[in-house]
Amino acid sequence: MGIRMRSILVMGVLGLLAIAVIGITSYKLSVNNALAEAKTKSNIILNYAMATKNYMAQVQKPLVQELIEKDRFYPELMSGFVAARGTFDIFKQASPDYVFKQATIDPLNPSNRADADEIEFIKNFDQNRSLKSSEGRITKNGTEVFYFAQPIRTDKSSCLTCHGDPYDAPKDQIEIYGDETGYNWKMNDTVAAFVVYIPTAAAIAAAKNLALTLVLVGAGGIVMILLILWFFLDRSVVLPIVQLAEKTESFSLGEQLNDPIVATSKDEIGALSHAIERLRISLVKLLQ
Ligand code: HEC
Repeated sequence: MGIRMRSILVMGVLGLLAIAVIGITSYKLSVNNALAEAKTKSNIILNYAMATKNYMAQVQKPLVQELIEKDRFYPELMSGFVAARGTFDIFKQASPDYVFKQATIDPLNPSNRADADEIEFIKNFDQNRSLKSSEGRITKNGTEVFYFAQPIRTDKSSCLTCHGDPYDAPKDQIEIYGDETGYNWKMNDTVAAFVVYIPTAAAIAAAKNLALTLVLVGAGGIVMILLILWFFLDRSVVLPIVQLAEKTESFSLGEQLNDPIVATSKDEIGALSHAIERLRISLVKLLQ
């Protein structure tokens, strides 16, 4: 294989390797960025939902309790879980791709029922009690999303007033939600999880497109560079060497001995031309 072909092959292989590394790195960085952004968003949504829930419990509920008859319970006015869910239902009208859920294995409200993935999150929190949150990529309804989850535990005995024996629960609650589901929870159980889903499919598709564009543009660039290199090697290395070889060949046969070699460059080829020219002069002298 000639010098030219060998150089082009080595450069081509190295170039392709570089492009592959650039493509893969770009894809990974973009995906990491997208996931970091999704995590920030999920924390904002979760913090906002918690604020709604806590506002209800800390500010609104005590005031409402002063205004109503004892023993009455209006979930919309007094339950942080209802407020968080209700606020998010309205938020969702403006941002339908985002999901906030108080996913519960055995809920009062069927719309809070955990699906198979969420049951796994809750079980995982139950087995690892020190785990404060979990997160990752998951496929929901055929598209990839980022999820962030935090455990909900029956950590106050007051929880069991409404979620323990239905007999103890407020009558208003039984009237609204029935007495079939959402009861008989045990103290300190991991009963549910706050789960937020953030869409990532578009960002990941964009990451793929960016990587693909980089690879295609890079491959185009490499082909151009290789073509330029091919012509450069042809003119400044291969052609002069072929000519010198032909000349030296004829000198060795005693032909064209009065035809001097003129070095046109000051590089290694020039040095070789000089050396062969001196050889020709020596040969001419020797023959004389
Ligand atoms: C005064 C009654 C009451 C108390 C006390 C109470 N809850 Fe609830 N809880 C409700 C009602 C009513 C709902 C229904 C929410 C809805 O409609 O989305 C609910 C919903 C929930 C949900 C969502 C799943 C579901 O059942 O629909 C979770 C999880 C939950 N509560 C956990 C707790 C925990 C943990 C505590 C203690 C810190 C607690 N609750 C205290 C009445 C109560």
